[in-house]
This record gives sequence, structure tokens and C-alpha cells, in this order.
Amino acid sequence: MKNIVLIGFMGVGKGSVAREVSQNSDYMTVDTDDMIESMQNRKIKKIFEEDGEKYFRELEKQVAIWLQKSVKNTLISTGGGFYKVKNLKKIGIVVLLDSPFDSILKRIQEHPNAENKLKKRPLLSDLKKAKELYDLRRPEYLALADIVIDVTDKSVTNCSQELLKKVKNI
Ligand code: S3P
Repeated sequence: MKNIVLIGFMGVGKGSVAREVSQNSDYMTVDTDDMIESMQNRKIKKIFEEDGEKYFRELEKQVAIWLQKSVKNTLISTGGGFYKVKNLKKIGIVVLLDSPFDSILKRIQEHPNAENKLKKRPLLSDLKKAKELYDLRRPEYLALADIVIDVTDKSVTNCSQELLKKVKNI
């Protein structure tokens, strides 16, 4: 079992799919944002506020190096900008959760905890800028992905089953 690295835009459902896969397979799951928060004992939002995005990206690089060296048989969910680390493809099979920007936004806004979901993501505070970021990143996500899962209007269970099936066939 190789690692699976889940990439995709903020709010697309990487965490939810990772938990579902982990509950229905032998994969354990870790999340790069959780690791950074735990390493730093501060929330991502605080890290951005106190030290800026550049510093956060350096932390992502540290995490990526550690994952490549030390983690096996694991489903790794990542922050939306983690895909930029140089060694991404060396960590494991890259799986993109893909969906149009408007559907992602709808998913977040319809969540019972929508306010918190928006508040904790500094790069979603300006939706016009977030859309620009989405347009910039989407081709880059697609170029890196070994597997693409269109999650639009699909249940988490459905996405998780599709992921496991596609990984098996690789
Ligand atoms: C980011 C996405 C966030 C988090 C940070 C930056 C990004 O993770 O890593 O706020 O650059 O897209 P999620 O994708 O889990 O929201």
C-alpha cells in the first residue's frame, strides 16, 4: 500500500473524504494542516496573522519532507496550497478532488458550520481573490494528479468508494 495524497481546493471536502476512506479501509489518515497546528500549537489562521503566508509555506515544506521520509500506507489529506511542495509526487499517489468553484462555495455555505469554515481559512476571506486563486491552481492540480475524482453532487461515501476503486487499479 502506497501513501495516497489528497489534493484540491479549500472546502472541496478533502478532510471528509479522508475520514470516510479511513473508516472503510486499512488506511490511517493524517492531515497536513493538523500536523502544522500541532507542531506550532497555533491555529492556521493565527500562523497567517502572526507570521504570514510565506512562513506557513515553509512549514508545509518541512511536513512534506518528513512525510516522504517517515510515512507509509497512509492517506494524507493536505491544505489547498500544499501541492506546491517540490516532493509531492514522491510522497505517494496523488488524488485530486475536483469541483467547480461555485459548487465548492455552495458546499461550504450550506454546511451547518459554514461561518467557522469560512473564518478559519484566511484565503477565502475575499471571494473574488479566492476565485482567481482557484482559476490559477486548477490546471496545476490537474497536471499533478494521478487520479481525478469529480466530487460535484456526490456523497462522501460515493467519493470514498470511487477513490478506493481507482487506487486499486493503478
Ligand atoms: C490553504 C488551504 C487551507 C490551509 C491554509 C491555506 C490554501 O487548507 O492550508 O489556509 O492555500 O489553499 P484547506 O484546503 O483544508 O482549507
